[in-house]
Amino acid sequence: MIIAIDGPAAAGKGTLAQNLAKHFKYAFLDTGRLYRAVGYAVLQAGKDPSDEAEATKAAKAFDPKTINAILKNPALRDEATGNAASKVAVIPSVREALLQLQRDFAEHPFFEDGEPAKGAVLDGRDIGTVVCPKADVKFFVTASAEVRADRRFKELQDAGKPADYDKILKDIKERDERDSNRATAPLKPAEDAYVLDTSKMNAVQAYQAALDFIAIDHA
Ligand code: C5P
Repeated sequence: MIIAIDGPAAAGKGTLAQNLAKHFKYAFLDTGRLYRAVGYAVLQAGKDPSDEAEATKAAKAFDPKTINAILKNPALRDEATGNAASKVAVIPSVREALLQLQRDFAEHPFFEDGEPAKGAVLDGRDIGTVVCPKADVKFFVTASAEVRADRRFKELQDAGKPADYDKILKDIKERDERDSNRATAPLKPAEDAYVLDTSKMNAVQAYQAALDFIAIDHA
């Protein structure tokens, strides 16, 4: 069983993916973290995330065995890393290097301790369209740019970090633009995806709506 969850930044797909993974006892992969880890590695090396050769080298350097440790790095959550991620994500050879890794996980999912799981939840931008076009359930989770910026703003405030709403909104719009308009695997709902607009929902309501959809669609 594969559940694919796509959508723009801060739409609530990560929380939904984790809730569904917990509910069904499936393994979860946040594929955005893979792109973030590549962007971060390039930034750490003092290079430009749009540099094809550098970004491809970083994407190819991933060792699936150590992936969980790499993806846990808290620095991957930063807005700057998210922006670098969306730059490396435009490069087709970077996407290709990460594709097999994601497909392997979907076909042979495993938990953090290495134990195999009977299903997988993957969240990202192209899971339902490119990575797992045959996924059993597909969600496209979205919300207005303003609502998403507000959520990021409050997250940062709650974490005691500096937060500038206008800058966050500008970054979100920029990232949407880059993710939606790139030539390879752009952000868009799969034709058979269930579109969940969370602009007027909290995380619990979105989770409930997703569970209801799965119950009806897979009854
Ligand atoms: O989801 P998150 O914000 O962590 O993703 C960071 C960036 O990685 C996105 O803006 C997008 O450009 C890229 N990404 C992607 N395909 C995925 C997941 C993330 O292109 N499946």
